[in-house]
Order: sequence, then C-alpha cells, then structure tokens
Amino acid sequence: MENVINYIKNNFDNYLEELKEYLKIPSISTLDNHKNEMQNCAEFVANKFKNAGLENIKIFQTNRHPIVYADWLHKPDKPTVLIYGHYDVQPVDPIELWKSNPFEPVIIDNKIYARGANDNKGQNFVHIKSVEAFIKSYGELPVNVKFLFEGEEEIGSGSLSKFLKENRELLKCDTLVVSDTSMYAPNTPTITYGLRGLLYMEIEVTAADRDLHSGSFGGAVANPINELAKIISKLQDKNGKVTVPNFYKDVLPISKFEKENFKKLKFSDKQFAKQLKVKELNGEKGFSTLERLWVRPTLDCNGIIGGFTEKGAKTVLPSKAVAKVSMRLVPNQEPLKIAKEFSKYIKSISPKSVKVDVRMLHYGYPAMTSIENKSIKTAAIALEKAFKKKPVFTREGGSIPIIVDFIKQLKVPAILMGFGLDTDDIHSPNEHFRLENFEKGLYSSAYFLNEMANN
Ligand code: BES
Ligand code: ZN
Repeated sequence: MENVINYIKNNFDNYLEELKEYLKIPSISTLDNHKNEMQNCAEFVANKFKNAGLENIKIFQTNRHPIVYADWLHKPDKPTVLIYGHYDVQPVDPIELWKSNPFEPVIIDNKIYARGANDNKGQNFVHIKSVEAFIKSYGELPVNVKFLFEGEEEIGSGSLSKFLKENRELLKCDTLVVSDTSMYAPNTPTITYGLRGLLYMEIEVTAADRDLHSGSFGGAVANPINELAKIISKLQDKNGKVTVPNFYKDVLPISKFEKENFKKLKFSDKQFAKQLKVKELNGEKGFSTLERLWVRPTLDCNGIIGGFTEKGAKTVLPSKAVAKVSMRLVPNQEPLKIAKEFSKYIKSISPKSVKVDVRMLHYGYPAMTSIENKSIKTAAIALEKAFKKKPVFTREGGSIPIIVDFIKQLKVPAILMGFGLDTDDIHSPNEHFRLENFEKGLYSSAYFLNEMANN
C-alpha cells in the first residue's frame, strides 16, 4: 500500500493538471447545443480509463449522452467493485457572479474553482487516479473493478436507467462505490447511507386566452399569477407541513439509532444560519434541522414564470402563469403515488375561473443502505486510514436517483463516500473543491480497493 500512497503523492501535481483538462470541457447535459462537448468529454474519460491501465473500454451511444465503461477483471477469487460517476455538469448561470471563467479552472487558497470541480468531475477523478496508481505501482489491482460514467445525472439519468436494465451481466458486481455526496464537515470523513428522492411537477394556470388591459378587465377576470400564488400558499400549513393528502402516509419514522446518531453529530443551527446569512432557520415544526434535511420530505416552489418581468411598469393581466414545484422524498414514499395525490389536490383547490394543468417533469426514488452492511464497514476502515480519523455516518438531503436503480437491478449495496463540502457551491457560481479533499479522496479510494480484497 505504501507504494501506492507514495505514487499518489509523487504524482499529485500531474493529477491536478489532468483534472484541469477535464474541467475545461463544458459538458452541460441539459443544453441541446452542447452535444459535441458531451461526446468530447466521454472520449476524455475513455482516454483516462485507458491511461490508468483499465481494459475493455467502451463508449455506448444512447438517445442522449454517451455512457463510458471500462474494467479490470484479473482477480477471479476477489470481489468486484463497480465505480459510478457522472461527467455532466450543471449550467453556469448566473455567469456574471463567477469570479473566474467556469471552464478555465484556477487554484486559489488551495481550492480549485470551476463548474464540476466538486460535482462530479473532481470527485470521480479520484477513483480513476487511485486505480492508475495501483496499476503503475504493482502492475495489478487488489480486486476487480468496473467503471461506469454517465452524462445525464443532472437531468435524471434517463439513458443509464435503461442501460442498467439491459446490461445486468456486464455490470455484475459485489458493491457499488460513488463519490458524489458531501462530507459532514471539513476534515470529517463521511459515509452517507441515505439519499432523498425527488418529484418534480409543473403547474400551469391559464385565465383568458390572451393578455388583457388590467384596467379594462382587472376585477372582472381572474389573474393567473394571483390564483397560482394562492394555490402555492395552500401547499403548506402554518407548521410547515405539506398539505397534499396522504403525503406523509408512507414516511418511515425516525429510528432510535438515527436519533442517537444525529445527536452525536452535534449540528449547530446557529452556525448554519450564520453561514447562510439568515436570521433564523425555517421548516417543519417538531423536527430538528438534521431531521428536516435528511429524514423528512419537503415541498418547494423552484420558480414562477408569468406576467411582466422587465424593468419598469406595465399594466397587464397576464393570460398564463407557471410554477415549478419539487418535492424531496424519503423512504418509503412512492413518487408516482404522490404525483397523483398532488395533481388531484391542486385540481381540488383551484377556482373555476382559471384552467389548471399539472404535469410531472421527472422523479427519483429515495435510497438507503444499511450501515450494518459489510462493504460499509470496509469503507469505514478505508476512510479511517486515509483521514486518520473515524468516519461519521450521515444521510443526504440531495438526490442521486440512479442509485436506487443500481441497488434494485444489481442487488448490491451502495457505498456513498463523498469528499465535497456543502460550502463548495455546487450548482452555484464559483463551485470549487478543496485540494486537501481531492488528495484524501485519492487515498480513500486506494485504501478502499485494498481493504475490499479481504471482504
Ligand atoms: N451531487 C449531487 C447530489 C448531492 C446534492 C449531493 C447535494 C450532496 C449534496 C447530484 O449531482 C445532484 O445534483 N442531484 C440532483 C438530482 C436531480 C437533478 C434529479 C439533485 O439532488 O437535485
Ligand atoms: Zn449535481
């Protein structure tokens, strides 16, 4: 092992330069005019797999963005680890708030700034490079590995979901490893055992078939923005509870173990509020902040479109207004069941004076892995070796919907060991990744593969 760790240390600067090249590719999956960049990024990843010493490298074309596969399978009596990552990134807007170009990575104060620096290029790169360090140091790996990187995580993993169903044999493994989550705090190795799910809906409210003069018609015809605002305001009660019928019906209660575990994490509301520059936190009454973030479902309006939004004033009754509403779901909520209840409820609280359409954009199931799992224990040993500190166990408020597909299709545990921080501004301007976490990530990945050999 020492050779591998030394190899990583000696090559750290090169790895960083290569990461910069990866970050220069604007692989924004949601933008239709970025198809070439997505293909270029898939080829970049395939190349890195090759240089690492991986074999059977394949770029699979899909209806949208390519999936990249590679493996190394020369230890028939050892377990097989499947490593998942996503090479797509979120859009960069609002671009004017970036202090440097999102696709010209810079290092300031031991942090690398670029879109994707944390989510997920910086994090998934550690696994490619730890494998490379092993193969270059010893000519072999301690276990079998398979790599599977996709380009649609930020838009719902549609192609990979289909691919998993059709390629169970190719992807057969004993455990899945993913680094796409956060550490609980700086210098705190973290294993995440739960992710929230997601249900994304759109509500469209239409009144008259065209915009109207608000003097000639205001007071006589419904205003879709006003009506939409009333609808949204009815989705939560004064205690912050979601009012959609049966919303909480399948929510698992918080276990005794979790209550204890959360206490141990010593979360500070005050510090959290300070970091976000808000006077007070807010949310469902009767639950602690960690509970509200990790084990309770939520409902949020993500955007409202409608009416006159330019500078200045215009007296208009808009014809239409749209709201984007998403819900973070927890075990054992069923996204499709909730989508039905949501649509029914919205219809039931809408006035006759407007036409209301409710659409589902996408959804993903919540995920959980038992912390009693053998691979989780192995990951804990590896993280302790890399950080020289015992890991903490957390859940995550965010979602990685494809994880559940892996668990269901391949019947394996998911080990989520992330090296980001929730202050790294993922999805936001000035996204960054701390170099110390990049380095610890490299060690953690290497130790994990080594420890898996005894699993
Ligand atoms: N890496 C994130 C998941 C995540 C979010 C981890 C927050 C840690 C903290 C992932 O890339 C992501 O952004 N997921 C989306 C999923 C959605 C687009 C289906 C999310 O949670 O919004
Ligand atoms: Zn993301």
